[in-house]
Parts: sequence; structure tokens; C-alpha cells
Amino acid sequence: MSMQWWLFFHLLGATFGVGFVFFQILLAARVKRLKGTPDEGALMKAHLMISRMGSVFLLTLLVTGVAMWGMNDYKSMGRSMGWLHAKAFNVVLLYGLFFFVSVPNGKKVGLALSQPGSVVTDEVRSAYRKAVMAGHTAMLLILINVILGYWKPGY
Ligand code: HEM
Repeated sequence: MSMQWWLFFHLLGATFGVGFVFFQILLAARVKRLKGTPDEGALMKAHLMISRMGSVFLLTLLVTGVAMWGMNDYKSMGRSMGWLHAKAFNVVLLYGLFFFVSVPNGKKVGLALSQPGSVVTDEVRSAYRKAVMAGHTAMLLILINVILGYWKPGY
């Protein structure tokens, strides 16, 4: 596959990825507004289920990014490769946030709300907030990677 196609899929992943994470800011805001209503827990659960799909965009970005890294001789320009290393590092951080913060806290919420007649307690809200905070941090890291991708400082 030519560089143009790898770049096309990389940009597609980035576009969907940014939209996907941004959409979750709106979902979290709506959950906040529903506090104390019967819909609060239902939307929390739906949100956390949807958010798990984010790892697919991340995998696409990682695979296409590493492929372009391998195809282009960025190093021969004799310039700094820091921007690419930073992008790879940010993706490792993103996976860390996903698997160590979002998934366990999401599971906690799912488990607490899976019993019939279960209500949203402050403990459930706190676990949900932690998962959401990880998502907001992910948004920042993704935007940094978009900027690094276009700017390529030092290259
Ligand atoms: C959250 C993850 C990522 C996002 C949102 C992202 C986004 C972008 C964007 C918007 C560009 C600009 C493309 C252009 O010049 O038009 C880009 C370029 C690039 N990205 Fe990523 N990227 C991500 C992860 C990665 C990873 C993990 C790698 C490799 C380790 C990578 C390698 C590259 C390379 C090599 C380019 C430059 C392609 C060229 O020569 O034009 N990216 N990225």
C-alpha cells in the first residue's frame, strides 16, 4: 500500500477519533444534567459501553502511524525525530489511561448498575467521573498528536 493510502487511513482514524472523544464530552455533560433521575444510570452505562470502541481508532492510528514511520526515511534529513517518538509515547499513555483507568472504573459502574432496582450512588458517580476524566485527558493527548503530525517540529 502506498504512503498516500496509509496517510489517508491515518487521517481518517484521527478525524473519527477526535469526533468520537469530543462526542463523549457532550455525553458526560448530559449525564451530569440527569443527576438523580432514573435515566442517569442508563446513560452512564451506555456511555461507558460506547467509549470502549475508542481502542479501535487508537489501534488504527498506531498501525498506520508505525507503517508510515517505516516507509519514510525521516532520519536521513538529519533532523530531530522527537515529534514521532512523542507521538508513539502519547499513544502508549493513551492505552495506559484506557486499560488502567477507563476500563476498571467502567466495569465498577457496570457491575453496580447491573442489579435489578440498583440506584446510582455517590460511589458509582465517583467511578464514572474517573473514567470520564481519563477520556478528557485522552482528548488532550489526541489533539497534541494531531498538532505534532502536522507540525513535525524539528523535521
Ligand atoms: C492519537 C493518535 C494519533 C493521531 C490523532 C495522529 C494524527 C496525525 C495527523 C493529523 C497527521 C498529519 C498528517 C498530514 O501531514 O497531513 C499525522 C501525521 C503522522 N503521524 Fe500521526 N497520529 C497519531 C498517532 C501516531 C503514531 C502512534 C505514529 C507512529 C508512531 C504516528 C505517525 C505519524 C507520521 C509518520 C506522520 C507523518 C506522515 C507524513 O510524512 O506526512 N502517528 N498524524
